[in-house]
Order: sequence, then C-alpha cells, then structure tokens
Amino acid sequence: MEKLVIEGGRPLSGAIKIHGAKNAALPIMAACMMAEGTAMIRNVPDLSDIEVMLDILKALGCRTDYHQDTVTINTSTAHSHHIPESLMSQMRSSIFLMGPLLARFGKVQVYQPGGCAIGERKIDLHLSGLTALGAQIEEAGNTIVCTAKELRGAEIVLDFPSVGATENIMMAATMAKGLTTISNAAREPEIQDLQNFLNAMGANIIGAGTDTITIEGVTELTPCTYRIIPDRIVAGTMMIAAAVTRGNITLENVCPAHLTSAIHVLKRAGVQIAINGDIMNVSCLTRPRAVERIVTSPHPSFPTDLQSQIMVLLSLADGLSILKETVFEGRFKHVDELSRMGADIRLDLNSAFVKGVPRLYGATVEATDLRAGAALVIAGLAAQGTTVIEQIHHIDRGYDRIEQMLSRLGASIHRVTPVPSE
Ligand code: UD1
Repeated sequence: MEKLVIEGGRPLSGAIKIHGAKNAALPIMAACMMAEGTAMIRNVPDLSDIEVMLDILKALGCRTDYHQDTVTINTSTAHSHHIPESLMSQMRSSIFLMGPLLARFGKVQVYQPGGCAIGERKIDLHLSGLTALGAQIEEAGNTIVCTAKELRGAEIVLDFPSVGATENIMMAATMAKGLTTISNAAREPEIQDLQNFLNAMGANIIGAGTDTITIEGVTELTPCTYRIIPDRIVAGTMMIAAAVTRGNITLENVCPAHLTSAIHVLKRAGVQIAINGDIMNVSCLTRPRAVERIVTSPHPSFPTDLQSQIMVLLSLADGLSILKETVFEGRFKHVDELSRMGADIRLDLNSAFVKGVPRLYGATVEATDLRAGAALVIAGLAAQGTTVIEQIHHIDRGYDRIEQMLSRLGASIHRVTPVPSE
C-alpha cells in the first residue's frame, strides 16, 4: 500500500495550475453515451475515478483513449446497457450512466451503489426523477433494472437539491419528448458545465446554476469537443494549504466565481486573497483567526467537500470555531486523525467545536475518504515533524498527483511505494 510522507513546517510558495474538475468530468463523460460518434473532452484530470469511468464505458462497448488531458470517447460501438457490478462498486458516480443509457437504449441495469465512509448516500431522488419521466424501475436485491419505451417530459420537484439526481434527470430529460422542469435543482457549477456540454451537443436546456432547470427534449445529439471547468475543490484545498503553512502561492486556471463562499470564509480567517481573472494569489503571514460559525450546505453555501480541509485551518486558528455539516451525516471521520495530531475538536451531533491550538504534530494517520485524506495532507504540511498518511488511494480519486502539486510549491512530500515482500 502506498503512503505519503510529509515533513511539515515549510511555508508553501510558488505557482501551480489547477486541473480540471472531477465532478464535472464524470457526468460529462457519462453524457457522451447519448450521442453516437466520437466526443473529445479536454482538461480531464488523471484520477482513479476517471479511469473507472473509462473502464465502464469500455465495458458498455465504447472505444476510449486518454492522452495527456484529453479523453476521446467513441460511442458508435456501444451495445450494452449493463454496468458490471464489479465496476459499479468501485465508484458511486457510475449511477450517472443511468439517465444516458436509458435515453440511448431504453434500458439500464445497475446495482445499488450502497453507503460509504461519508454517509448513507441514497439514490431515491435519482429513481423517482427517472420514474416521473416515464421509466419503470424493478429492484431485486441489489439489482436495479430501469426501462422506458419512451421518456416524456415532466415537472419534477426535488425534495433536496441533490447534485447527482439533478444531473441524472437533466441527462434523461435531454432526449425525452416535451418539456421537463426540475425545481429545487442543485446549483453547483458542475451542473452548469453539464448544461453547457449537453447544449454543445444540441440539447436545449436553460437555468442550470439557478434552482429551476428547463429542458426541451430533442431527438438527436451530436458529439462535440469540450473543455472541463477548473476544479474548485482542488483550488480550495490549495488555498487552505497555503494559509495553514503561512505561505504565499499563486493558483492559475481557477474560476473565482465558483469559490465565493470559500473565499469569504478564508478572508474572515485573515487570509489575504487577490484575484486577477483566472489567477488567484493566496497568502497568510500570521496565525489565522477563528471563524465563529461555518455551515456546509448546497452551493452557493460553503461546500461539504471543503469541510474537512477548513477544519485543519480552524484547528490552528486563534480562538473557538464552530463547523456544522448539513449535507452528509457521517463526514467527521477525519476528526479522530486530526486529534491524534494534536487538534482540539469536540463533536456534538453534526457540529464540530474546534478550539485552535498553536501547533499540530506529525503522526501516522489514515485517510478514511477523499476529502478527509486531503485534510490530513494539509495538516501534515503545517505540523511539526513527520506525518505518514496511509490509505492514500482515497486521495488519488480526486487529486491528480497531489504530492507533485505540493512539491512544486516547495513542500516536502513523497509517495512511498513499499517493496513487495517475497
Ligand atoms: C456530489 C459530489 C460530491 C459532493 C456532493 C455534495 C460528484 C461526483 N460528487 O455527490 O463530491 O460531496 O455532490 O456537494 O459530483 N441524497 C438522497 N437521495 C438521493 C441523492 C442524494 O437522500 O437520491 C442525499 C445524500 O445522501 C446526501 C445529500 O443528498 O446526504 C447530497 O447528495 P448529492 O448532492 O446527491 O451528492 P452526490 O451527487 O452523491
């Protein structure tokens, strides 16, 4: 098992370019399935989740290629509507293929993605949305088979603005007959990116980025070439890493408008942020201040995907902060690990009471999920001494060679691959 070894205490400095957004690339790659022919998607990060999505597309009969940051997907040879269970279990985002496969083949077979380290993660909103569009759903044990002779537009009101459900319904509705409206839709930037991609293929969608999305169904889509937006969570992670190491860094290829709430919170903590187009300078030369209250909730509020990372900053800030998680019920697994590094955090239901300490200390810790792993990396960069992070395959799901990004900023961080014993 690979590990990351970090010698903490070096202020980050220098410039890096932020890679493309995983959470935009995955649904867009799934959406390619709806147009027969070859699509080219640029600015795709080299991540294990992207590899799994390519494996699924191949299992469905597509021809794929990934060179530098460009994915090519030829769907002309696609013949299967069945996502193999072994691949489905590797990545929850495989459910993004439900809408596109239903639109293309009128049938899709998937498996319950199940819970995970951060919470229960149900798919009821995906299924009720597809049902509203005319799909029949049969569930037997773990297997879900969804069929539709014809998809028809519908008025859909989501009980919660689920990102994945909004995207799945949007994709299926793109080729449904008539008009679909999704109310209480998720407003994340990745949903706007999916809208832009689908429209570039010939769809007729407006409203992504607001809570009401309107989709006029079309009969055919044509493959296109498209560039993915920058990853706002990777950018946010690097901003926090700069702040906790009292560093001064420049991030290129960022979209500041996607980071409004994170910028606001960091400025309240005393972090200096200067923006010039898609370039952002982040510096923090003194100890960060506590932030009285941060609540994660759907976009444009503070993202749950930055909750564990900001907890590291609060752990080192001057004063008491309260951090409330409202999106995922089980997203505090990093608290035990941060406590082992010297953080003073008390949990009460879905709130963390974080009393800042002057310093953290290196320790051997375990990444329990993707963003928890990123938080431990940040903690290791700020800590005194050596930090060893295990189970880093979680981190590789969302950060394209995190150790290279941080080394370029002057961090001492190495990936260690154990020599197999005989
Ligand atoms: C997406 C992101 C993930 C991010 C999350 C919230 C991708 C690939 N992943 O995940 O990084 O943390 O948004 O910003 O884009 N829920 C239901 N029923 C459903 C669907 C969701 O109850 O059918 C609940 C979930 O259990 C969770 C909440 O809604 O508590 C948010 O989930 P959702 O917005 O759907 O997140 P994902 O699309 O899975």
